[in-house]
Amino acid sequence: MIEIENVRKSFGSLEVLKGINLTVAKGEVVTIIGGSGSGKSTLLTCINGLEPIDSGRIKIDGTEVHARSTDLNKLRQKVGIVFQQWNAFPHLTVLENVMLAPRKVLGLSQEKAEEIAVKQLTHVGLAEKLAVYPNRMSGGQQQRMAIARALAMSPTYMLFDEVTSALDPMLVGEVLDTLRMLASEGMTMICVTHEMKFAREVSDRVAFFHQGVMAEIAPPEQLFDAPQNAETKKFLAATH
Ligand SMILES: Nc1ncnc2c1ncn2[C@@H]1O[C@H](COP(=O)(O)OP(=O)(O)OP(=O)(O)O)[C@@H](O)[C@H]1O
Ligand SMILES: [Mg+2]
Repeated sequence: MIEIENVRKSFGSLEVLKGINLTVAKGEVVTIIGGSGSGKSTLLTCINGLEPIDSGRIKIDGTEVHARSTDLNKLRQKVGIVFQQWNAFPHLTVLENVMLAPRKVLGLSQEKAEEIAVKQLTHVGLAEKLAVYPNRMSGGQQQRMAIARALAMSPTYMLFDEVTSALDPMLVGEVLDTLRMLASEGMTMICVTHEMKFAREVSDRVAFFHQGVMAEIAPPEQLFDAPQNAETKKFLAATH
């Protein structure tokens, strides 16, 4: 379970998270929507400890992320994160790229790391691309490789930050299909997205962020069809 309690975070004089509360249960899919600069990415980076917080608490399966005693490397194995773009190592094949963290971070043998990497690359539909270099793949394939790379660490939770935003519209579908597949398998996920149709389909709950505040959170039917908050209404009207 991911528990976010009254999290505040500023960059200089700009408060970007103004007391966020959110609990994500095992198996749940929560999507986050909201305007640019509303704090969506910042929250994800706080969840896996890439950014410190100013106050409040974030717990992953009971472990406080920002406690001094927490081993962040260990925690991050549990919480995979995929960004808009991931720069793969260009001189390594797709397979080698995905094997890297299991080898270096988990200390697995070459054979075991390869087995896991092949399994995850196959899972995201890249079984044919093992020996290819990343720059020979489409943007959608590269994003699926990035997802396979995160999955190779056997995470319990996955965080996705606009993983389709940098893609040609033609390639968005295949990456969203991969996320849909993970959701249907019961992966616990928080997805920041601009894809409203996807959010509606895949989410257990949708959270709308506005200026550092989680202005509304509700099941998709409710949030999209009967939003309660004035800012949610404005946002949805502007994005349709
Ligand atoms: N490292 C940083 N240093 C200073 N300011 C930052 C930093 N990261 C983010 N910000 C600021 O914090 C605010 C929230 O940024 P954040 O990236 O979380 O927004 P977002 O909701 O993800 O927006 P977008 O939809 O454009 O990705 C923005 O005003 C941004 O400029
Ligand atoms: Mg962002």
